[in-house]
Amino acid sequence: MNWFMNWLLPKGTSTVAAEVDALLQFIIVVSIILFIIVVGGTALFVVLYRKKKQEQVDFTKDLSHNTKLEIIWTVIPLILVTIVFFWGFKSYMKIRLAPGDAIEIKVTAQKWFWQFDYPDGVSNTNELVVPAGVPVKLVMSSQDVIHSFFVPNFRVKMDVLPNRYTVAWFEATENGVYDLFCAEYCGTGHSKMLGKVRVVSEPEYAAWLEENSSFGEGMSLAELGAKLYKSKACVTCHSVDGSPLVGPTFKGVFGHTVKLNDGSSVKADENYLRESILKPQAKVVEGFQPVMPTYQSILKPREVDALIEYIKSLGE
Ligand code: CUA
Repeated sequence: MNWFMNWLLPKGTSTVAAEVDALLQFIIVVSIILFIIVVGGTALFVVLYRKKKQEQVDFTKDLSHNTKLEIIWTVIPLILVTIVFFWGFKSYMKIRLAPGDAIEIKVTAQKWFWQFDYPDGVSNTNELVVPAGVPVKLVMSSQDVIHSFFVPNFRVKMDVLPNRYTVAWFEATENGVYDLFCAEYCGTGHSKMLGKVRVVSEPEYAAWLEENSSFGEGMSLAELGAKLYKSKACVTCHSVDGSPLVGPTFKGVFGHTVKLNDGSSVKADENYLRESILKPQAKVVEGFQPVMPTYQSILKPREVDALIEYIKSLGE
């Protein structure tokens, strides 16, 4: 049956995957057996007891009940659902309760990207880097609507809600890069709300943290801006080649007059760009929806400067 589970789901690479798969496999096998008995029986009776000739009309006698049969079809399903309940409950408790020694990472979902904040101040967008063989606890919340954190390889899925925290945890068993999906429809950009979970060895994880705590040092502002454009997920909604996506393109915007949706217009200078990053609803460009989240709590002042420099470098 292993080939079957591998065909159905991506390879399980967390400590709970085998348990989740075993229960799923049990439910699928039992369902297939019951399906064959019920549908096969129905088909068989249809053929056996069909009306053969006009004169042979001979209706079945009235049946009131059959105690033996009724006990059988009550007790067998009862046993099966009891097994599924206790088995599922045992795994559920294991999946819900994070071990006390887990690394705690804050996950913030917003339209349409994931932000990860590590204990020592490092933060990252759309890529969760974790060590293998160490439990990781995620404390999650949303800035806007309901999202859902889903890593199929880990068999971990948990809704991420505004105004309250939800918790998920996992322990990855194998190094690799795994897909992270948003599994709750959250608007136009839902299908692009994709991330990666990169599982590395413990020394590599330590090195990554070290490297990212000094991110941006020794880079020019425009270079840093180009990096942030991707790592802070601006790329999801803004192109740099002139094509409009969910938001206007960054190409050639600087220094030009921009028409706003209230009919006024504004010159795209540094202050306009800064305001659009930190207070996106203040001035919305004509033809676009006011859907951009604020980057107030996400970007440091130097990073705001860097993005502005990067947009300037894309031509006037
Ligand atoms: Cu976030 Cu769908």
